[in-house]
Amino acid sequence: MTRTPMIDGFGRHITYVRLSVTDRCDLRCRYCMTEQMRFVPRHEVLRDEEIVALADILIARGVKRIRLTGGEPLVRRGVERLVETLGQRIGRGLDELTMTTNGTQLARHAPALAAAGIRRINVSLDSRDPELFRTITRRGELKQVLKGIEAAALAGLKIKINMVALRGLNEEEIVPMLRWCAAEGHDLTLIETMPLGEVEHQRTDHYLPLMEVRSRLEREFELVLSTARTGGPARYFEVGGLGALLGMITPLTDNFCEGCNRIRITATGTVFGCLGHDRKIELRELLQAGDAAAVNGALDGLLAVKPRAHTFRIDAAAPAVERHMSVTGG
Ligand code: 5AD
Ligand code: SF4
Repeated sequence: MTRTPMIDGFGRHITYVRLSVTDRCDLRCRYCMTEQMRFVPRHEVLRDEEIVALADILIARGVKRIRLTGGEPLVRRGVERLVETLGQRIGRGLDELTMTTNGTQLARHAPALAAAGIRRINVSLDSRDPELFRTITRRGELKQVLKGIEAAALAGLKIKINMVALRGLNEEEIVPMLRWCAAEGHDLTLIETMPLGEVEHQRTDHYLPLMEVRSRLEREFELVLSTARTGGPARYFEVGGLGALLGMITPLTDNFCEGCNRIRITATGTVFGCLGHDRKIELRELLQAGDAAAVNGALDGLLAVKPRAHTFRIDAAAPAVERHMSVTGG
């Protein structure tokens, strides 16, 4: 097993992998997907054994955290068994296994996730108003997600709510969401819309710069920039008086790439060094062939070309990259 650490051309150490287990989702959030998404054929999706083999290769090379994403990871068939198998790596090279989910199936799966060793999950929740939730997700049932969040908390999982800030849609809900999260003991991360893949409308219509949100929040709360940085793109603030941690992910107004410690792997085994670039390698055939040396070689090739930074612009004529977030993995 190769133990060479993964270091890119800019000296950044890759210790974090976002691993998509399906590109499918039961929701169709407007900023994320089109109404008529075409998903990859199931036979192209990595099988459990291939995902586990890949995880073992990555862990041997120093990956400490794996986040399972999608699409919606909990709509993958047999996801509990996969999570259980990956969970067995915790403490044996892997420090942490996490998941980003839309919460619709969480009520059913939360106990198994906790039993597998997952301690923290991110749940996407853009609104706590049933009608607005349905509008943004095009089909979501808010109650189902709230039940999922409750079940997860009950199972002992620490919850971070991800809220995409959308002008004219949920902007008035940011403060109530923050108060609700604080009361429930959840953290909140606000996200700017990113130009990933075509959607039906102009993203600029609903783009809400978090700089603006921040100054609005500062009229009501004291925001103290926290030193906590996870090597990820979020900046964290302690919210005075609420005891809540507020994260902001601002790909468009603030470039955070210099500390990037991650790569992203799609459900079909394509690896991207950056959410905002097309450079990639394909691992599926190598994994099917059981050729770990070739997988390692391909990873080295990707590290050599991992770009220094993304170049997102919300007003660009075309999306920065053609693939949707649900393809690359949230
Ligand atoms: N821009 C910003 N956030 C997005 N997400 C999905 N697509 C986009 C996009 N184009 C969010 C989801 C989820 C997280 C993984 O990414 O809402 O919370
Ligand atoms: Fe599904 Fe998440 Fe995309 Fe919404 S943002 S459609 S929940 S993958």
